[in-house]
Amino acid sequence: MDELSRRKALLSGGTLSALGALGFAGPAHAHRVWTWSPQGSVAGSGAGVDPRWLWDEEADPVVKGLFERGEVPRVNELLRSWTKNGQQLPDGLPKDLRDFIERARQVPAWTDFDKLGQAYDFNERRGLYLGVLYGMASGMMSTVIPKEARAVYHSYGGADMKDRIAKTAKLGYDIGTRNAYDPHGEMGVTCVKTRLVHAAVRHLLPQSPHWDEAAPEDIPISQADIMVTWHSLATTVRQKLTEWEVPVAQEDSDAYLHSWQVTGHMLGVSDEYIPASWDEANSQAAQVLTPALAPTPEGVDLADILLNLGAEIDGALLSKPVLGAFTRYTLGDEIAEWLSIPREPVWSPLLETLWRPFIIARETGLHFPGSQETYFLFDEFLRKVVLIYLNDGQPISIEIPIINRPS
Ligand code: HEM
Repeated sequence: MDELSRRKALLSGGTLSALGALGFAGPAHAHRVWTWSPQGSVAGSGAGVDPRWLWDEEADPVVKGLFERGEVPRVNELLRSWTKNGQQLPDGLPKDLRDFIERARQVPAWTDFDKLGQAYDFNERRGLYLGVLYGMASGMMSTVIPKEARAVYHSYGGADMKDRIAKTAKLGYDIGTRNAYDPHGEMGVTCVKTRLVHAAVRHLLPQSPHWDEAAPEDIPISQADIMVTWHSLATTVRQKLTEWEVPVAQEDSDAYLHSWQVTGHMLGVSDEYIPASWDEANSQAAQVLTPALAPTPEGVDLADILLNLGAEIDGALLSKPVLGAFTRYTLGDEIAEWLSIPREPVWSPLLETLWRPFIIARETGLHFPGSQETYFLFDEFLRKVVLIYLNDGQPISIEIPIINRPS
């Protein structure tokens, strides 16, 4: 092991976790060891290898080859026209990339399209809550997941958060569409392109002296990291809906989980790490997400940028305090303090008093004829406007980054 790797292994607790795997870890470090059983996964079994040491063995070598052959700009240009799951790939792609994409675009054999249809229905009825939660709970939480905050900050997209959020919002939008994984949908393409972007980040970030200085790991975005972010999205949203006492029927709950299980697979996570039930998801999240949350300078900076995104519209007069108060309300006082988000004198008490009654009123309103469709139109409009605003009206195209953060 060279000096740098040794330093990083020690810093990251790699030695501790290696000992832990052999049963020597003390209780203080127990959360660093992957003990979640593959029996609770969609695969039902597995080797139980610690996924912090697994990345993407299919996409990573292909993307590394694209960099070495100087083919990334041409591939980005070619893939811009590939948007639908069932669409033929454009001519002219390198053979290894084409072969990879043809494999990666296939949904897993266990995909249940009836459940995905139900998940769309659920999105339609609960779009407003899901939108608020993806933004205010998951989005802001990403800034207190240290590995993610550092990776995002020091990668190319970290310098233009509006663009980056627009691209991530595309995934949040596509997963909620009726034909997400059908031939006419776009979610399969979005996932495959995201796999390529993640592979590029694994290639590029280790060359960044800034990231290298700050990060305890040698290679970013392991399969364990992806599951941490998965929980900040799916599991956190599901938990918040329960906390807010939003009624969720069993079949909706199962369907929503299924859409995220398929997405985990499509993002390159092995089935043995994807939870088979919400109980299993909660137990994995308690092991890998909750103990990982912590402030970093990068995360504090990113959170500030996110809270100021509305500044173009209202000079941040209204949007910043409201977004800050929402973050405090959904993620709690401790995380708000980490991110230096002050308690808002007007908006914080208002949310604490009115948000739950608003939900009750809305749930009651849902039973009036026509109101369901009206709400969905509103939600859909809101989501589209957000996407258009974030991307300044341009079509959103997820592309392989060529360099790290320029500064
Ligand atoms: C890029 C989604 C996990 C770091 C992206 C993009 C999407 C996405 C849609 C493309 C947007 C863009 O190019 O800016 C997801 C989802 C995840 C996940 C759904 C898990 C369920 C992670 C994790 C990390 C990470 C765990 C880091 C530890 C990044 C970085 C970029 C990226 C650095 C590229 C930013 C750039 O330079 O443009 N991700 N991601 N992602 N993701 Fe992820």
